Amino acid sequence: MNRILSGIQPTHKMHLGNYLGAVRNWVALQDSFQTLYCVVDLHALTQPQEPEALRAQTRELAAVLLASGIDPARSIVFVQSQVTAHSELAWLFACMTPLGWLNRMTQFKDKAGKNRDKAGLGLYAYPVLMAADILIYRATHVPVGEDQKQHLELTREIAGSFNHRYGVEFFPLPEPQIMGTATRVMSLRDGTSKMSKSDSSDYSRINMTDDADAIALKFRKARTDPEPLPTETAGLAERPEANNLVNIYAALTHKTPQDVLGEFGGTPFSTFKGALTDVAVATLAPIAGEMNRLLGDPGYVDGVLRDGGEKARALAAETLAGVQDIVGLLKP
Ligand code: TYM
Repeated sequence: MNRILSGIQPTHKMHLGNYLGAVRNWVALQDSFQTLYCVVDLHALTQPQEPEALRAQTRELAAVLLASGIDPARSIVFVQSQVTAHSELAWLFACMTPLGWLNRMTQFKDKAGKNRDKAGLGLYAYPVLMAADILIYRATHVPVGEDQKQHLELTREIAGSFNHRYGVEFFPLPEPQIMGTATRVMSLRDGTSKMSKSDSSDYSRINMTDDADAIALKFRKARTDPEPLPTETAGLAERPEANNLVNIYAALTHKTPQDVLGEFGGTPFSTFKGALTDVAVATLAPIAGEMNRLLGDPGYVDGVLRDGGEKARALAAETLAGVQDIVGLLKP
């Protein structure tokens, strides 16, 4: 059966970009794949984290995933660090990943900034751990937002190179699933940069836990231009902020951007932002409500994660044993 693995980092809070670009698709795919979804706490450690905050954010993120519709009866939901085989496989992959491949990764360049000598080895090796997250389950499909495309290309290269080196067909080459009209949701303050958990301004993003007033305020303050909305999508080409808001509306209502412009073309942003607030609140309020209910019962969330970890460990152990055998590690 085709198998899905995807993950999300417990850094800061989950935002609308994570939801529309990834998590909403994870929910939809539960019926047609065997699905594994993990909170990737080891990836979060590539940047400094406060220990208690990391623990709380990990549980909180698991609760948002469940509240968004990830169903523990159909999906294995777990925390990355609770399945140690991810790290073990990452080492084996690290030994066969040329530096040249890692040097191409734009996310490392962006995150390390100018002072590359000060960046940690973990940040540099991050895509190798991500490849291990996916391949330890021999996942065939990986639903992600567009920003993860390059990491998935690297995952395919690592899988192919392992198979080639050892003359086996052990790992599948996983397919990225980049789906919908919101594969790259942009910042509300700057339509040319991605909506991100790490942006210093909270006005740049809609968090899954924002209430109706906060959502209304953030959309009201969202940067736009003085023109009314165009009637055709071609008119969005040079207007990144307008394009972003139209795409968000389209994704939230399951319409095409052209349909949205059919409805709102010619209207001023003030009108459109009000409608956008309404559809965002209609989607997010029930999720936030369910999340608060779940956080009132941390024992339940921890139980789901414990159970998911157990199932994930069993699947991962099988792959790891196979890999250890192939590369020539002596069995106990
Ligand atoms: P992370 O935690 O940054 O994001 C989680 C998911 O949300 C998507 N996403 C977006 N989609 C649309 N618009 C945006 N502005 C936006 N921002 C984030 C991401 O593409 C992602 O799908 N490296 C990954 C985590 C990871 C992973 C994995 C993913 C670790 N191991 C294995 C898949 C498979 C990351 O940092 O995602």
